[in-house]
Order: sequence, then structure tokens, then C-alpha cells
Amino acid sequence: MDSKKPKSDVYWVKFEISKEDRRKLKGHASVVIWLTGLPASGKTSIARELEKRLHEMGGHTYVLDGDNMRHGLNRDLGFSKEDRQENIRRIAEVAKLFVDAGIITICAFVSPFKEDRETARSLVEANEFIEVFVNCPVTVCIERDPKSLYKKALSGQIKSFTGVNDPYEVPDCPDIVVETNKLTLSETVDTIVKHLNDKGLIEDLKCSACSDNTG
Ligand code: ADX
Repeated sequence: MDSKKPKSDVYWVKFEISKEDRRKLKGHASVVIWLTGLPASGKTSIARELEKRLHEMGGHTYVLDGDNMRHGLNRDLGFSKEDRQENIRRIAEVAKLFVDAGIITICAFVSPFKEDRETARSLVEANEFIEVFVNCPVTVCIERDPKSLYKKALSGQIKSFTGVNDPYEVPDCPDIVVETNKLTLSETVDTIVKHLNDKGLIEDLKCSACSDNTG
């Protein structure tokens, strides 16, 4: 649906300051960096380090993380297919607002269904969405199991746990794939920062991972 179209008696209000104005003030583009992958694949760790790196470089950032969002905005949602879909729909709308605000928005959600990730992508411009597949074999995720959730799922205490008894649909064409069982956290962050730089999204920031940027 075109969000600018009047919805019954509700009309879109345009304000004076645009996304471009906000970006100009901040000195960089605003995008959604969407991290998807199995529980314990490394999404939250990557989000944390990536935000730190971009912040140190002078970027304006924010992290939207699955577990945190489920404490507030999405506290009414569980893990049925419908609830996961609604979870991602709400987050995608929030991410869109953050991009409009001029923020580099890092989203860390299992987001197991392709259709929902495509919904998230469709809400922003084509060059404003970077899908990062955080790829890690489920056997390694089970070994890591920082919250002992795989243990609970494998013993039948959690039903519908992604990777055990609920599906994860691997992205067909992600913008970036990071194999967290092969790369260090720092190398993973380097890969994402370099991609942002190569796309010209953060060229005015100081990027140590990008050899041609002396900033
Ligand atoms: S999503 O599937 O709707 O995208 P989301 O990323 O918000 O999931 O939340 C996933 C987090 O909730 C996991 O990191 C894990 O800690 C916790 N969790 C609890 N139950 C489940 C479950 N059944 N499946 C996946 N994650 C779960």
C-alpha cells in the first residue's frame, strides 16, 4: 500500500525538514542493516560491535534487537508464525522511521521467514536496505547456546524453537553473508563496514577497515 495515500480520513502530513536534510547534518547516509540468522548465530554480538565501530567513526546509529524489542513494543507477541510476522512488520516500520531520521539502523532479528524480510525491505528505498545473512551451522549454535534455549528446545521444553522444531528460511540473495564460525567478530564487522564504504554510504566517516580511505 502507498503510505502517502489518504487512509480513510487520515492524511499524510509532510514536514519541512526532509530525510536528506537530516542526513546532510549527520554527514552520512541512513540505512537499515538487517541481520538475520538462527538464534545464537551471532546477530546481537555483531550488532553491538558494529554499532561501536560506526559510532567511533562518527556515525549516528541505533540497534533494534529481537530480545529487547520483545520486552517493550512487542511484549504482547510470542513465536507463532503470525506473531513473528507481526514482530517483523512492527520492527520494519520502526526501522523505516529511524532511516527517515537519518540513523544507521542495525536490526538483529531471527526473522526466519523470507516473506517478512522482503516486507521489511519493501518499506524503504532499494539502496536503504542491506540484508546480512549471519550464517552459522546449527550444530555450532547448539554448542554456543548462551541462553540454554537450544537445550530447552531439544528437551521439549520450548516448542517452535527456530533451528530445532521451527523453520529458518535461508536468504536467497543476501547483500552480505558472514560465516561466524569462520570469521572473528572483528573480521565480521570489517566485512560489513567495508560493504557500507564500497556503496558510498559512509565515505565521509573515518574507516580503518577501508584501505582507500585515509580520513
Ligand atoms: S523472530 O523470529 O520473531 O524474528 P526475534 O529475533 O524477535 O525472533 O526473537 C528471538 C529471540 O527470542 C532469540 O534470540 C531467543 O533468545 C528468544 N526466543 C525465545 N523463544 C524462541 C523461539 N521459539 N524461537 C526463536 N527464538 C526464541
